Amino acid sequence: MSEKNSQNIAKLIIGDRSIDLTVMIDSFDRPAVDIRNLFAKYGVMTFDPGYTSTASCQSAITYIDGNKGVLLYRGYPIEQLAADGSYLEAAYLLLNGELPNRRQFEQFQRETLHRMPVHEQMIEILRRYKRDTHPMVLIESMVTALGAFDTDCDVTTREGRNRVAINLIAKIPTITALALRYIQGKPFIYPREDLGYTENFIRMCFAPSDGAPFEINPIIAGALDRIFILHADHEQNASTSTVRLAGSTGVEPYAAISAGIVALWGAAHGGANEAVLGMLERIGSKDAIPAFLEQVKDKESHDRLMGFGHRVYKNYDPRALIIKKESEKVLANLDVQTEQLDVAKELERIALQDPYFTSRQLYPNVDFYSGITLSAMGFPVHMFTPLFALARTSGWIAQWKEMVDGGPLTIGRPRQHYTGPTQRDYVALDKRD
Ligand code: SDX
Repeated sequence: MSEKNSQNIAKLIIGDRSIDLTVMIDSFDRPAVDIRNLFAKYGVMTFDPGYTSTASCQSAITYIDGNKGVLLYRGYPIEQLAADGSYLEAAYLLLNGELPNRRQFEQFQRETLHRMPVHEQMIEILRRYKRDTHPMVLIESMVTALGAFDTDCDVTTREGRNRVAINLIAKIPTITALALRYIQGKPFIYPREDLGYTENFIRMCFAPSDGAPFEINPIIAGALDRIFILHADHEQNASTSTVRLAGSTGVEPYAAISAGIVALWGAAHGGANEAVLGMLERIGSKDAIPAFLEQVKDKESHDRLMGFGHRVYKNYDPRALIIKKESEKVLANLDVQTEQLDVAKELERIALQDPYFTSRQLYPNVDFYSGITLSAMGFPVHMFTPLFALARTSGWIAQWKEMVDGGPLTIGRPRQHYTGPTQRDYVALDKRD
């Protein structure tokens, strides 16, 4: 990974000590103070809970400019990829750094479709769970189990790591559809090599149990494929950082991705799309919005405007703009009558006129409109985060591969700012008052 050479030096003055630190300059001329040896050489730590100012790694995969609302996958604007590309193309780009030519894409697609089926015994894993288990539990279990079935998984070579990456991207839609069918008590539908990636997923989710012909709505398939593109990667978010940290211990990639699935589930992260639907249902109608927002602004309520705010975007999340347009198209095409989109748009309109939100730079994020769109497509609300995980698998495994391809692993092991008692001696129980 090349970093721009820099003559910039940062001086750290602590008492009578002056420490010179190198400043690294990234592709967009953003400076980073290199503190890798700060503690070992000088016994000094930095303090940054939540890593709000800390670069945990170097990466060439995704770039976000939170102030300008810019999102690039390997330099390509998300708007262009979503408008004219496909999810598998974006997955190839994230993994390999360049867009595929026609031959490369056809070969990647062929291998991915060929690898979509899972071992029949995977279904036995599902049968151990109650039917009302949250699908994120089922998916996490099956992804971890993939390692047991992928007996020729060899991650010591680039080719081996590429194969595992394709295997994961191929199997995650099948696993996600299996989880849905299991919860619904429906027979499983298997993938077909004569269908596209997202079309396969839609058919595995919604095809009738009796094997009757099932027509895939191209508007839905196109909208879902675009939603997958938008969710594919997003720098070092909480779940991607979890994948990297787990992967840094040398654990096999399936387990590292499984750790990312669990981290994504939180309502502050990928679980927000599910929470937004609950919030909209709770609000009910437009005239209840002012009272709800007053509740959110009352710190005592601990209520948050779900689908709003972002650690990096201090402007409109570009993905939210695209999904908002998709939701209007999908609802119109399916002739779905729902007040939720109107309530969401009115909620956004009022919030963006309210200084409480604008002063805190709180704008709609990727989760604000996605649930409305997925619900109109027929996905139950507890499938929203699994769909996020499906799409993010390509980003997670691309980030894992970038870390492992980058040479010997350095285990991630943050320090801490200790605030506990200094050393003291043990007193026997019978001597304590
Ligand atoms: C995703 O990181 C990624 O890239 C994630 C993601 C990806 O693609 O991987 O983009 C996907 O996770 C999107 C985010 C989905 N989460 C939500 O929509 C949940 C609601 N949002 C928040 O919980 C919150 O905005 C976070 C967690 C997303 C970001 O929180 P930060 O950056 O840590 O901000 P903060 O909690 O320090 O809040 C700053 C201020 C606080 O108020 P004050 O103390 O200054 O008075 O803003 C307030 C917060 O109370 N605030 C909100 C709010 N989010 C922040 N107030 C009301 N509603 C909100 N949603």
